[in-house]
Amino acid sequence: MRSHYCGHLTEENIDQEVTLSGWVHRRRDHGGVIFVDLRDREGVTQIVFDPDIPEMFMLAEKVRNEFVLQVKGKVRRRPEGTENFDMPTGQIEILALELTVLNASETPPFQLDDDDVSEEHRLRYRYIDLRRPEMQQRLMLRSKITRMLRNYLDDNGFLDIETPILTKATPEGARDYLVPSRTHQGEFFALPQSPQLFKQLLMMSGMDRYYQVVRCFRDEDLRADRQPEFTQLDIEASFMEEEQLMTMMEDMIRNVFAKSLEQQLPNPFPRMSHAEAMNRYGSDKPDLRIDLELVEVADVLTDVDFKVFSGPAKDPHSRVTALCVPNGSALTRKQIDEYTKYVSIYGARGLAYIKVNDKAAGREGLQSPIVKFIPDESLAAILERTGAQDGDLIFFGADKTKVVNEALGALRIKVAQDLDLVKHGWQPLWVVDFPMFEYDEGAQHWTALHHPFTSPSSDNPQDLLDNPGESLSRAYDMVINGTELGGGSARIHNRDMQESVFKLLGIDDQEAQDKFGFLLDALKFGCPPHAGIAFGLDRLIMLMTGASSIREVMAFPKTQSAACLLTSAPSGVSHAQLKELGIKKREIIGEVTAEASGEKKADS
Ligand code: AMO
Ligand code: AMP
Repeated sequence: MRSHYCGHLTEENIDQEVTLSGWVHRRRDHGGVIFVDLRDREGVTQIVFDPDIPEMFMLAEKVRNEFVLQVKGKVRRRPEGTENFDMPTGQIEILALELTVLNASETPPFQLDDDDVSEEHRLRYRYIDLRRPEMQQRLMLRSKITRMLRNYLDDNGFLDIETPILTKATPEGARDYLVPSRTHQGEFFALPQSPQLFKQLLMMSGMDRYYQVVRCFRDEDLRADRQPEFTQLDIEASFMEEEQLMTMMEDMIRNVFAKSLEQQLPNPFPRMSHAEAMNRYGSDKPDLRIDLELVEVADVLTDVDFKVFSGPAKDPHSRVTALCVPNGSALTRKQIDEYTKYVSIYGARGLAYIKVNDKAAGREGLQSPIVKFIPDESLAAILERTGAQDGDLIFFGADKTKVVNEALGALRIKVAQDLDLVKHGWQPLWVVDFPMFEYDEGAQHWTALHHPFTSPSSDNPQDLLDNPGESLSRAYDMVINGTELGGGSARIHNRDMQESVFKLLGIDDQEAQDKFGFLLDALKFGCPPHAGIAFGLDRLIMLMTGASSIREVMAFPKTQSAACLLTSAPSGVSHAQLKELGIKKREIIGEVTAEASGEKKADS
């Protein structure tokens, strides 16, 4: 139905007869001549309807935005002075010879060039939202990048193998989505949080190198970079240690950045231990475009007459850190109060600060509600360590280490964004040497920081059992510009070690057998050493397209409350369907009340 895409026509096509099909992007009536910008995936071309062909002209008068047209016409150069050098087709136009209206359109719920449409509205009419050139370009880039990643892996001997979607729970730290079984009533499948165990089994099956572009499902609290279903580029390789895998993976990522964005990433990517990342940036995914760092000051504050500082300074599970903000003394009281409120989201009980007005003037040159509590030597040490200059402001975080890291880690990013301190460009890094376990105070047992199949650095299970808190793992995360793009590890390939890890995680033999018996069995029959990684494909595309959320790079994403506004999923099902599954709906008090109050609202 077409000879060319609208967006592909250039001066080279002048004098050719072409057939285009697409949507009316804009229609302008210039007294006697009608201009239509016709749009398809590849771009927009201007069509001119002259009144010389009256039937066609009358039809053209009736077309409106989003009508679907087929136009036959002749490509000609635009008259001098009417060219648009900003658009690829801006030097030419099509003189229409034949017009077919393939379909009409009601007035669309929003105009494609309206920047002010709510996200709800966009998601409800996603098929129209996706017509916007910006969305089309993102999805086209996504397709291109995915193909490049696949090609890279194919070229390196990785096999694309599919794994089950109806499966058993894999622990990746989120809640499972469950699917009831009709043939095994009362039993459920879990949708995979990742294909972790299957890809390990594929290594045990001798497949050697595996990859998959695969949907994963996690019922967790959603944010800009999290969706309940998302796509991983999932990878596993046998007889490979972390060094070789990491080298290959960063080469792959460098390759797609170079080919699709013409951006050169560093070679090699810098590496940072988890401990260093937490100490300097309060985060396991530091954004290295921001120079601000957390500076340890506990040791000079242990004896001050200010409990907010001295308490945590003496506690081994706490931290007292300073964050120097260049030119921060211009911040107003109100702005500081707003930052104080911001850090309270992360549990911080306050945000002490010092404005450095005049360093040379000593304590007189410092403006702060707390300097009166701090002796001269300590003040001098703080100024020295933070490198504070006149005009700077120093924030303080004093609390349990976790609270300080989260609060000041987030503040570091917020302040940098507000004060325009985020540098341009790409700052990738590997975060390595993660602790194997974290102690969960609530549940009173150790939890795996990565997942329970990650190999510890030591290959002696007894070391692990003796000293779980100090054990490091062979995990690695790839981080770019503060986003965790991917994570993986060298895996446990020995049954004793796997059992020791389960034991430490409070999973007894029975539970281990019930949940992971198939893995433990497989480990008995010749498991090769193997390592792998999974990249969040949506996050990679979000970064590469400069989008603000992964929803902007997914065709049909869900809302923050994990619903699809387009299809109204999730939705109720018939009584008959439930009966077939052996499921009975319980009257939930809350729902009944909601229904009742809904009626009342309608009445009033
Ligand atoms: P992990 O849980 O770190 O590792 O996930 C790997 C990558 O997937 C992306 N990601 C998400 N993207 C969007 N929405 C989500 N809800 C979401 N959750 C995770 C992130 C993350 O880095 N099986 C292991 C990998 C391995 O060990 O090989 C795993 O899934 O970019
Ligand atoms: P207060 O003595 O509670 O009035 O606190 C004095 C200053 O210390 C205020 O600026 C508080 O915001 C700040 N502050 C209180 N608790 C903390 C904390 N845990 N970490 C950092 N600053 C704090």
